Amino acid sequence: MCGIIGYVGKDKCIPKIIHGLEALEYRGYDSAGISYFFKNKIKTIKAEGKIVNLKALLNFNEESYLGIGHTRWATHGKANKTNAHPHSVGKFTIVHNGIIENYSELKEKLIKEKYVFKSETDTEVACALFDFLYKKNKNILETLSEAIKILKGSYAFGIICNDDANTLYALRNTSPLIIATDETGNFIASDVPAILKFTNKYILLEDNEIAQITADKIVVYNNNLEIVKKNIKTFSESYEAATKNGYEHFMLKEINEQDKVYKNTIDYYFDGTIESLEKNFNFLNKFERIDIVACGSAYHTGLVGKCLIEKYANIPVNVEVASEYRYKNCFYNNKTLVILVSQSGETADTLAVLRKAKNDQIKTLAIVNVVGSSIAREADYVIYIKAGCEIAVATTKAYLAQLAIFSLITTYLGYKNGVIDSKELTTIFKDINLLPNLINKTIANYETYFKIADKIYKHKQIFFIGRGIDYAISMEASLKLKEISYINSVAYQAGELKHGTISLIDKNTPVIAIATDKYLLEKTISNIKEVKARGAFVILVSNTTFKDHFYDEFITIADVHPILQSIIIIIPLQLLAYKVAKNNGCNIDKPKNLAKSVTVE
Ligand code: AGP
Repeated sequence: MCGIIGYVGKDKCIPKIIHGLEALEYRGYDSAGISYFFKNKIKTIKAEGKIVNLKALLNFNEESYLGIGHTRWATHGKANKTNAHPHSVGKFTIVHNGIIENYSELKEKLIKEKYVFKSETDTEVACALFDFLYKKNKNILETLSEAIKILKGSYAFGIICNDDANTLYALRNTSPLIIATDETGNFIASDVPAILKFTNKYILLEDNEIAQITADKIVVYNNNLEIVKKNIKTFSESYEAATKNGYEHFMLKEINEQDKVYKNTIDYYFDGTIESLEKNFNFLNKFERIDIVACGSAYHTGLVGKCLIEKYANIPVNVEVASEYRYKNCFYNNKTLVILVSQSGETADTLAVLRKAKNDQIKTLAIVNVVGSSIAREADYVIYIKAGCEIAVATTKAYLAQLAIFSLITTYLGYKNGVIDSKELTTIFKDINLLPNLINKTIANYETYFKIADKIYKHKQIFFIGRGIDYAISMEASLKLKEISYINSVAYQAGELKHGTISLIDKNTPVIAIATDKYLLEKTISNIKEVKARGAFVILVSNTTFKDHFYDEFITIADVHPILQSIIIIIPLQLLAYKVAKNNGCNIDKPKNLAKSVTVE
């Protein structure tokens, strides 16, 4: 998604703004720009493509102490310099993340007011609206307060005005925006990594709040222009946590952090006793049905959650992608819990589902990574995963931590519902404690997975198959491969192949088969032999060993209780995807067209 950074203070603003934009690159973008006050005039410089193209146009020593910067992920209009932010109309210059849904009607009205538009963006229309309103009331705060009542859709704005060279304004609705402060001055940013090098002190701007920021003062107003008291929060991660620490890519660093992330997440809710799970999860007992709703990888954790909760807690679970669920008849009731899973806590479709459920008085639980994110703040209940700052667009450690939460929830509910007895509970608890070490050992075996990647990375299509929870994992493994290596990959229920897909299997077509569910093992093996018989290059991932070799490559994984097994299975497949992408020279941390947090529909 777009990245916003702004600074006003005692230091020169250009270096800080550019650093902030570079720290936001992981969000994905196709152009960048900066506007800053120079000799009391606003200068704007923009460039297509990467930030390095913008930096080539800048004088970093320019005497400027207030500015805004932006990385654009195109929604309205092509990825070119004209559409790049910041946009200026009349007295105002702004940067924006989000989508103004009523921009067409606003544009028509403003054209009648003699405004001429240069770009195709909704942002320029919002800027013209600010200028139009300001011409009438000559007061910036009143202008922004009036604009809030007119604009529809999602937005986070950084705003500067020619008539006020010492002040930075900010405004948000749905799209995230923070205000940060250090000893030199104050910042606005889309996300914490942009400012973490300077400070870990930040304020969360809420929907429809207006921030008026000078070098030494931050005032926040509600949309009636009453001052709102805000608490300064401290981001717990260090700047190092938001850097690569010697790894070639953030994704590889984050895969390697998964043992610690798992332990941090589990330890926060589980001290080895069922009582600790009771204390943290007893609110779950009120519900007779669960709808898990999310997007992308978070949706895939829901598929695993469904398999576990239905099998071990005997509760019906419906799993849907948020972009569908938000527009459908959901048939939920006061005995339904809607669980929103989201790493960023800002995904527009998932947030929209949360608001729909709340509007229908349905209880909501958020399983989220980013503390204080919109989904976390608005849900009735929140369970934070402890994955830390995840920079790579392709999620790994957050996905694994979400699986860990589903394993704890399942264990608690399964025991409460009498499906898991004390003996099995003891086995689960033992494996929970063994897992950090087993995760580590699985990661340490990376050369095995890399060697296999070296055999398949040139293929144009790669299939994943599995049954039950193995199919749920194969969905995530396939997405990992697709999103960072751009290879066409599909995950299929192993039993479905003969109903059509098997026609796609040619000689040496790589098929990665996941077979860990002992109850379904024989069936999965038959499906593997079906594709093998048609020439496939079969890579088997299993916690079981076999006498006859009906496969070409074998990835063995530790055998743990099925409630925890998915946490181990995904690791080799993350590393396989990583190496395939690396061999293909792909931009692993910032895959083309993708964003870390999709804050627009
Ligand atoms: C995962 O690798 C992708 N980056 C993407 O599918 C992501 O999981 C999805 O956009 C949901 O994001 P969220 O967890 O922040 O809501």
